[in-house]
Amino acid sequence: MSWRVISTCPPFAQTGSGSLRKLRSAGCDVTNATAPGPLKGEALVAALAGADAMIAALDVFDEEVFKALPQLKLVSRWGVGFDAVDLAAATRCGVVVTNTPGVLDETVADLAFALLLALARRIHTSHASMQHGDWTPEWGGDVHGKTLGLIGCGRIGTAVARRAKGFNMRLLAVDLRPKPDALNLGVDFVPLETLLAEADFVSLHAAVTNESRGMIGEAQLRQMKPTAYLINTARGALIDEAALAQALNKGQLAGAALDAFCTEPLLRFHPLRSAQNILLTPHIASLTNDNGERISAAATEAVLDLVTGRKPRFVLNPDVLTSRALRATLAN
Ligand code: DGY
Repeated sequence: MSWRVISTCPPFAQTGSGSLRKLRSAGCDVTNATAPGPLKGEALVAALAGADAMIAALDVFDEEVFKALPQLKLVSRWGVGFDAVDLAAATRCGVVVTNTPGVLDETVADLAFALLLALARRIHTSHASMQHGDWTPEWGGDVHGKTLGLIGCGRIGTAVARRAKGFNMRLLAVDLRPKPDALNLGVDFVPLETLLAEADFVSLHAAVTNESRGMIGEAQLRQMKPTAYLINTARGALIDEAALAQALNKGQLAGAALDAFCTEPLLRFHPLRSAQNILLTPHIASLTNDNGERISAAATEAVLDLVTGRKPRFVLNPDVLTSRALRATLAN
């Protein structure tokens, strides 16, 4: 069967050549959307006109979008986070939503730890000053032996904990469901207040839900030590960005490294861009060539499965598979 597959995801276009070949050999007509994303509303509908399946970046899917795209059968998320997709609406409209868990954990953990090291050892500021022609040795802080607080300790948080263990760090975490892997590493699960008060580095690895949205606000930032650093490679919406910019400018904490933002791309004149002691990266946590290939392959697998009537491996809204609204056809 010939499906029209549209990708709105630049990393897929950059790393998915093997995947593209597979989709084309399966008879799919694949194109890359040209509009800069993440897309939502009418722009998303226009980009996906006629699509049977799509490979999604961080585009915003709501009921109106699903209804305006009656041919769309699958949203295959290039990555793990699905906070931008209304899963209940997808199920009501018969659209299958998948993601790619398990392939990117170590890569994201690498970046979180790289940011932690850079902040503590002033790598980014030293580099910038060298490029300005200066020679200004800066004093940093130790990483080894310090306390790391993980907010969210699932697969990615645990991968960060493993790295930190090699630096002989004390490990604290907040998570509703402590996992055996983390417990075996010696992670101590504590209330959020304890973690914020005791951690030298706080690293965010939680999903955005109604409960976690804005969980690091003015009050929580005040509970952190003035010598502590905040690292976010998860989602911008976990943090009150205005409160963080203010806290940094007042010297309430030692610094922050952010790879994810409430609105992406980050506005050109956003207060975080000029905040004190900040290290910013443009949502690159998953972007290594190796990992890009892995995610593209996994996102493609979901399309190939559904095209051939198989149930994809990681369906985020499994109820849709038994619903009368299901737009795809499953074999047997
Ligand atoms: C994810 O996996 O959700 C990352 O943010 C990349 O999309």
